[in-house]
Amino acid sequence: MRIVSIVGARPQFIKVAPISWRAEGVCDHAIIHTGQHYDPELSANFFSELEISEPIANLYSGSGSHAVQTARILVGTEEELMKINPDWVLVYGDTNSTIAATLAAVKLGIKVAHIEAGLRSFNRLMPEEINRIGTDHLSDLLFAPTEKAIQNLNEEGLGDKSMLVGDVVVETLNFIKERILTSDFQRQEKIFATIHRAENTDYRERLLNIIRALSQSRLPVMLYAHPRLLKKAQEFEIELQSGSITLLKPNSYFQTIKSILESVGVITDSGGIQKESYLLDRPCLTVRQETEWIETLVDGWNQLDPNLEIVETFWWKVPSEPTKKLMYGNGDASQLILGNLF
Ligand code: UD1
Repeated sequence: MRIVSIVGARPQFIKVAPISWRAEGVCDHAIIHTGQHYDPELSANFFSELEISEPIANLYSGSGSHAVQTARILVGTEEELMKINPDWVLVYGDTNSTIAATLAAVKLGIKVAHIEAGLRSFNRLMPEEINRIGTDHLSDLLFAPTEKAIQNLNEEGLGDKSMLVGDVVVETLNFIKERILTSDFQRQEKIFATIHRAENTDYRERLLNIIRALSQSRLPVMLYAHPRLLKKAQEFEIELQSGSITLLKPNSYFQTIKSILESVGVITDSGGIQKESYLLDRPCLTVRQETEWIETLVDGWNQLDPNLEIVETFWWKVPSEPTKKLMYGNGDASQLILGNLF
């Protein structure tokens, strides 16, 4: 059994890690890196820190418009898959790498399984929503992380090829959490923050309002800036380091999770970080109109605040006890996924 995982962006390295560990000695598993992310802090560092096996190829697709980036990945993936001819291709999440790799594989007649299938924001202005819908409809097998994702797939007539396995990120998070709990970490009165989504960074007024709101936070805001945020802030001449904000570089996964644990709350527009905050019992303000991870909204642990209207309140003081997190599975998603490919 030959399996190829195709990944290219930071959140996908976090998702492929448990598959890479679990496949060791069980099947022939190889990774193709599309090169969508290429800065060491968004890419290479994740492979070493998470002990992911080295990619057998890098397509160096780099940055570009959606069409350019997707097309480069499509062409590069086809070339590599023709050489390897695997039994299965595994694709992850909702990036341009996901949809391009899926299209290349299915057109070669190679079976595709989508990990983290069935998520929907119902907002087609998000490039990720288009990528998810396309990938789910083209794939042969859909591994869903939550009941809600299964429900979405059923509603689109995809129930027959769907399976609830839980979330692979739980495994990566457990791996890192164990290391953090044995190191020394201290909770401090500060907020962990990231902003990177196109809908928040790519419009001057919108970005300006978000930065203005963050700068007025009651507590210091540690803003870990993705390259897209830095690029857009520079283009729009917006000062990121202002008021309560301390500007920082993106961190390794270990440092990111440690910083979340050391904070009292999180402000983000990232899907992954919303869910990680929830799993780590840190309240979150999500700078979006909607979320695919609706389970996190229970009891106010995650609140949607697209215009950061409550940033000046004590939003991180959630009155309820942390809820049970079993809706994301038992931490055995990778085992269920690999088991179902045989
Ligand atoms: C991509 C995904 C998004 C995911 C995010 C995680 C798509 C459509 N979007 O968004 O779903 O949440 O990754 O980070 O696939 N850049 C660098 N160095 C890099 C990579 C990017 O400087 O290593 C800069 C470039 O200026 C680039 C910009 O960041 O144009 C955006 O990168 P891109 O991969 O197009 O999208 P992300 O915003 O990272």
